[in-house]
Amino acid sequence: MSHLSITAIAAKLDEYEGKEVELKGWLYNKRGSKKLQFLQVRDGTATLQCVVGKNDVDEATFDCAKQLTQETSLVICGTVRRDDRSKLGFELGVTSIEELHKSVDYPISPKEHGVAFLMDQRHLWLRSSRQHKIIRIRHTIVKAIRDFFDDRDFVLVDAPIFTPSACEGTSTLFNVDYFQEEAYLTQSGQLYQEAACMAHGKTYCFGPTFRAEKSKTRRHLTEFWMVEPEVAYMDLEGNMDLAEDFLCFIVERVLAKHRDDLESLGRDVSVLEKIKKPFPRLRHDEAVAMINKAIDDGSADPRSAGTERLDEAHEDASATHDLERASENDDFGAAHETILTRMFDRPVMIHRYPYQVKAFYMKRDPEAMERALCVDVLAPEGYGEIIGGAQREDDYEVLLERIKEHELDPEDFKWFLDLRKYGSVPHSGFGLGLERTVAWICGLHHVRETAPFPRMMDRIKP
Ligand code: 4AD
Ligand code: MG
Repeated sequence: MSHLSITAIAAKLDEYEGKEVELKGWLYNKRGSKKLQFLQVRDGTATLQCVVGKNDVDEATFDCAKQLTQETSLVICGTVRRDDRSKLGFELGVTSIEELHKSVDYPISPKEHGVAFLMDQRHLWLRSSRQHKIIRIRHTIVKAIRDFFDDRDFVLVDAPIFTPSACEGTSTLFNVDYFQEEAYLTQSGQLYQEAACMAHGKTYCFGPTFRAEKSKTRRHLTEFWMVEPEVAYMDLEGNMDLAEDFLCFIVERVLAKHRDDLESLGRDVSVLEKIKKPFPRLRHDEAVAMINKAIDDGSADPRSAGTERLDEAHEDASATHDLERASENDDFGAAHETILTRMFDRPVMIHRYPYQVKAFYMKRDPEAMERALCVDVLAPEGYGEIIGGAQREDDYEVLLERIKEHELDPEDFKWFLDLRKYGSVPHSGFGLGLERTVAWICGLHHVRETAPFPRMMDRIKP
């Protein structure tokens, strides 16, 4: 049996009120006077105010409370007292304290620290209340992702981490020496999901993916988690419907469980409450026209509104110089995405990008052969792309041609081409980046806080 936790008491306050309980935790913070010590004790589930009254305990206990240091581990006993000023609904009237291990010179004090310092202390920073909330919200999002697909009869089919070939371009591959053969860390499980959905109909994978991103932006990690559903006999429209339902489900779940946490992170919850179907769906060329109109009439300075968080406008040299107009034949820059997403209060789905700027596996639009049947979902407030997906090329000859055009070795994709040889069907899927989604929902400035131990170009420790 595990010991009693703060949240377990809060959940059954009627039962515990007035009772003596024992908690096991760490000292988070403390203030006090000659007569009273207010200990903030965290136990992993929450942080509770524990009050030590000089007149209520023996002298040794009061002295012990007075000298407790930050992050000292302790066992604390006391009486549960209802208190409506506490978010938990109660505080503890302390009766005894047992100091388990004294923490000396804990490096993270309640004062402000620089991010580089905190990142170096990530193993300890995780204990701070803000980081604690973010990791819990990440956990809820992971669970929501699993529940969404499991409830809709998708089968989880894990994709390998070691891969023999590229999925998302050869410029961001991490090489591995695989017994004297060249292999790579996976960039995406998609190609394997395409095989899996031909066996199971609806599948998904959810795991770490790797990109040797040489850009130091607020939205790029070198290791990030991606969930990738893939569905046989689903077209691009179906793919967009799925992505829309999926995002609404995740946001709803987080709002239901973490309203208080979001507010204490400074997130404007009313912004999230607007995330409802339908999301705007724009063809890429329509989006280009809207962006260029905004640039031309001067309403499009990506630095002006102050709502951008994850966008690269401040870091991206191109954005601080004259804004270039968007092109129908090119991908958007970060500044373009910011301008566009500012126009809406919910995620925007941009479909049918020019096929040359997109991956080899995407099917081209039979009604506009220069376009790919793809969709990117851009989050509002400048957060940018959180989902990338497409209907897949299902014709053997065309796919082979595209592989060659991208200077990939057809030999590496023989198995993938097989899927177009034996009962090929239309199929589609997408990938959602977990960390960008957490950053957007929590309203964070940078993805680095969304991963327990983030990996970036300039960071592999701790
Ligand atoms: O758009 P991407 O590259 O799409 C794919 O990998 C497809 N194979 C997915 C599929 O169709 N099954 O990546 C998908 C998402 C992006 O929208 C973004 O949210 C996230 O993965 N992502 C990153 N997140 C953090 N750091 C990076 N370096 C990321 N690169 C992509
Ligand atoms: Mg993409």
